[in-house]
Amino acid sequence: MSVRSLLTLGLAALPAVLGSPLEARAAAAKTTTVTASASTVTVTASASTVTVTASGSACGSITSAPSSSHTTSTSVNTNPTTTETATQTIGFNKAAKSLSPKRYFGTAADIPGTGENQDPYYMAELNNTKDFGQLTPANIMKWYATEPEQGVFNYTGGNDFLALAEANGQIVRCHNLVWYNQLPYWLTNPTTNWTAATLTAVMENHITNLIEYWGDRCYAWDVVNEALNDDGSWRETIFYEVIGPSYFDIAYKTAQAAVKAKGLKVKLYYNDYNIEYPGNKSTAAQNLVKGLQSQKIKIDGVGLQSHFIIGETPSQATQESNMAAFTGLGVDVAVTELDVRSPNLPPTAAQETQQKADYQSTVGACANTQRCVGVTVWDFDDTYSWIPSTFPGQGYGDLFFQPGGPDTPLVKKVAADGVIAGWESGT
Ligand code: GLA
Repeated sequence: MSVRSLLTLGLAALPAVLGSPLEARAAAAKTTTVTASASTVTVTASASTVTVTASGSACGSITSAPSSSHTTSTSVNTNPTTTETATQTIGFNKAAKSLSPKRYFGTAADIPGTGENQDPYYMAELNNTKDFGQLTPANIMKWYATEPEQGVFNYTGGNDFLALAEANGQIVRCHNLVWYNQLPYWLTNPTTNWTAATLTAVMENHITNLIEYWGDRCYAWDVVNEALNDDGSWRETIFYEVIGPSYFDIAYKTAQAAVKAKGLKVKLYYNDYNIEYPGNKSTAAQNLVKGLQSQKIKIDGVGLQSHFIIGETPSQATQESNMAAFTGLGVDVAVTELDVRSPNLPPTAAQETQQKADYQSTVGACANTQRCVGVTVWDFDDTYSWIPSTFPGQGYGDLFFQPGGPDTPLVKKVAADGVIAGWESGT
């Protein structure tokens, strides 16, 4: 199956297509190393293949997860054959802040619960506010983690994540309230079938509870994540199937009521992928915004996930005109999950150079769009990237890598200079 046809199935659904969501396979080419960073990860190798098996993964691969199982990350760390490293030292977030209006640069982090927070080199960089002024919890605020039993909320992980960011003065994009993936078992396998009324009540309770509990400690919430198929039609999620398309408006209406009840400033976003360039899906996302606006329901921004492939990233001009289509509706945009993966491993020197250009075009598009508030990468270190387990044989998508594996020094790739060049190109 080609990457493109896999993409039409949805990033988060891919592991189910590829086999067990908890298993990643990588060809054991001469230059490929496989490293495991958590005690529950087992690695078995044969002459031609390497199999990594873990009790969880850092991406959206688990549809019904008991909270205790989603605790580790796998890492397949493939060093390039030639590495040009970054020369710019100003810092991603410092460069973003120097624009007018100022922007942020941030990263997702799968904390707590993975090897990331036990890796001192990873943590030192995460805490480096010259580079990162914003954090997104990769998993810990998702439904399976925050409401593991119906009506029983678990805020511990989210609180820890917020405390970490707050200690650094980093803002947090809270992620996410309503998504078809990584739902708790009780929701996907109810003892009594849901009706539109019962599932609506469950959704309203979840949204209200989390928005009110975390309040303005969240800079923004992704209220609904990935509601659309690539052709622009509704994705047939449990919410869509049981409640109908009105679940979308109900979710935002509920979020708006919570914001109002507590007098909050938190921004409400819609977040999706393949809406970074004009096409049916981007148009459909714009129509979702218009639909809310026509009912006077609050929507503050649209998150453009931006999971790209080296050499296949939409051009800067394309990304800018697409952003303009959203901001023209009166909402902010944010790049929320940027990574630019290599379709083959190891990447060639030419691909490393292209990766720099690709990071530059997305950051440059944001810099040139007044209402693009910032750019978030979906983690910054290949060691903890979700990509190799979801797209076997692909990777090298992040801004740093660890040639020696976990718990060893980070190397800043030449792609990092693309980020700085992107901010500096801002008008
Ligand atoms: C989607 C989700 C994220 C994350 C990534 C993969 O893009 O929005 O929360 O799960 O997939 O890691």
